[in-house]
Amino acid sequence: MAKIDGSRVLITGASSGIGRATAFELAKRGAILAVTARRSKTLRKVSDEIKDAFPEAQAPLSIPCDISNRGDVGRLVKKCVDYFGGIDILINNAGIGVYGNAEMTTLEDFRSVMEVNFFGSVNCILEVLPCMKEIGKGLIINIASVAALHGVPYMGAYSASKAALVALSQSLRAELAKSGISITIVYPGYTQTDFFKNEKKVGGARRPAGPYAPARKVARAIIKAIESERPDLVLSLGGKALKFSQSLMPWLVERTMQRIAYKLADKKEA
Ligand SMILES: NC(=O)c1ccc[n+]([C@@H]2O[C@H](COP(=O)([O-])OP(=O)(O)OC[C@H]3O[C@@H](n4cnc5c(N)ncnc54)[C@H](OP(=O)(O)O)[C@@H]3O)[C@@H](O)[C@H]2O)c1
Repeated sequence: MAKIDGSRVLITGASSGIGRATAFELAKRGAILAVTARRSKTLRKVSDEIKDAFPEAQAPLSIPCDISNRGDVGRLVKKCVDYFGGIDILINNAGIGVYGNAEMTTLEDFRSVMEVNFFGSVNCILEVLPCMKEIGKGLIINIASVAALHGVPYMGAYSASKAALVALSQSLRAELAKSGISITIVYPGYTQTDFFKNEKKVGGARRPAGPYAPARKVARAIIKAIESERPDLVLSLGGKALKFSQSLMPWLVERTMQRIAYKLADKKEA
């Protein structure tokens, strides 16, 4: 069981949504936090809000960083290590989306999603691993998505980026099995955040109506995953049903995906 109280946690994408909510839940449990994202003002505001909410806790270290830039990530990790003396838990949460038909998605769009969701996490993992190895322990939480369990219609670029993150996590888990460093993969389902406002839309396909979980609920599930050191945590009813059906009735999953693709399609584009 991983201890949160007193642990030094670096969380990416903490300026909004799931990352922000997780930072609050961690602070509440006594974690020593470093929060990062690109928007420095918004990030500082989150850090100040946490400081006000938990005045007895150590104020979060707020470090703006674009995780797709390896040099930036190197400086981020160095600042954390200089300030805290090490990192016990890394939460790779920052992510972006592109929504629309794969055939209308440009190569640049595919690349930009991979740059943040996959290579951004790779950058953080490669920079943090040496510090964790030095102390002989650590926990890396990679926030994937239910869309990584199976390619989802109109989320081709996003699904691929998160599936790549899952595969890397599984490889690392095997390689690091005897190192004291654990890897947890979290697969959130639809969550109420700014993600959908920020994502790039391609073509006219619609998003499903919901349900969307509150970010706080997802954050609490991430806390449970940390405390129990669960290797995999699939969230939402839809996510659990998808995982279950995939192993027993893969044909049903394929048919359901086709039905979803038809239902959400922009009929003018068909
Ligand atoms: N919302 C959902 O339904 C859902 C479902 C499954 C999985 N997820 C995953 O959950 C994670 C959090 O998403 P969210 O829903 O909370 O979305 P969100 O509110 O849009 O948060 C995304 C966070 O990532 C940061 N970010 C984006 N690009 C970055 C970059 N290049 N460098 C550093 N930080 C960057 C953003 O901050 P800045 O803009 O300030 O950089 C923001 O803090 C993502 O990995 C997402 O894929 C979300």
